[in-house]
Amino acid sequence: MILTVTPNPSLDRTYEVPSLHRGEVVRATGERVDPGGKGVNVSRAVAAAGRRTVAVLPLGGAPGALVAGLLDAQGIEVAPVPVAGATRSNIALAETDGVLTKINAPGPQLTADEQELLLDTVRRLAPGADWIACCGSLPRGLAPSWYAELVARVHDAGARIALDTSGPALPAALRERPDVVKPNAEELAEAVGRPLATVGDALKAAEELRAAGARAVLASLGADGQLLVDDDGAWFGTAPADAVRSNVGAGDSSLAGFLVAGGRGPGALASAVAHGAAAVQLPGSVMPGPADLKHSAVTVTTEVPVNRPLREPAS
Ligand SMILES: Nc1ncnc2c1ncn2[C@@H]1O[C@H](COP(=O)(O)OP(=O)(O)OP(=O)(O)O)[C@@H](O)[C@H]1O
Ligand SMILES: [Mg+2]
Repeated sequence: MILTVTPNPSLDRTYEVPSLHRGEVVRATGERVDPGGKGVNVSRAVAAAGRRTVAVLPLGGAPGALVAGLLDAQGIEVAPVPVAGATRSNIALAETDGVLTKINAPGPQLTADEQELLLDTVRRLAPGADWIACCGSLPRGLAPSWYAELVARVHDAGARIALDTSGPALPAALRERPDVVKPNAEELAEAVGRPLATVGDALKAAEELRAAGARAVLASLGADGQLLVDDDGAWFGTAPADAVRSNVGAGDSSLAGFLVAGGRGPGALASAVAHGAAAVQLPGSVMPGPADLKHSAVTVTTEVPVNRPLREPAS
């Protein structure tokens, strides 16, 4: 079973609009509502791979109930942590030309008791989990060190933890030795405090995160592929995507691919890359299933192309 933890989940409402004009009434031509959040995406991708997953989510108010109902309808088990504040609603405006404008709400502030209940729920479920994937930003009220506390408790319970977060929460968690962290290029650059121009720069930064405590680093580099660095060495994986439709959730899909393939070594990296390439060829945040994956198109090598410039350098 793969447990996911999304401290700040959302109800994502997407409106299709012809075009946006500030200050005017914009009439939507279509509307959809989805459960949102990085861990929720990982759970959706794990479920699409045919594996059992449970999503731990603080949920509150009517939007929280709707998130639980939508996930239940998709066959995804939820371990709800009831909170007093209402789960946030995020709005996306999708224009016909493909431009997406998003308005993300801050979400509820969790009380000290709610924070403790969230940690305790994870610890209670940890013994049944092969992996625990902790993903996304922290809601208001949670200190940047909250993930560090979570890693410590999960390790006490004997489970392995994958962490995908940004900002100060990422470096703060490293001292507790998460089993794998999955930064994208921007998150990696921010964590080491310098820009990344080449695959070699990303490799050096990943090694720095390991020196700071991460046991393995799975760095996703957008169109440039992915880098895995662990105790046994470094691997670089790529797969072509013929038609990129949406990169939303491609990193979350990659992390799910890595974990369902065992969560370590070049085989898991190949699965992560296959999932990422498949995800970008599907619309919105649709997660790929086995039929969407092209394993034969994936290349994994120990010869990391350190001098290769990144197509999307990170500042
Ligand atoms: N244009 C592309 N062509 C081929 N593969 C891609 C492309 N963009 C992304 N991918 C694949 O998806 C992976 C994840 O993408 P990316 O690094 O953008 O993740 P991310 O920023 O964490 O995304 P998110 O957090 O929205 O899920 C990449 O490492 C790569 O394997
Ligand atoms: Mg990401």
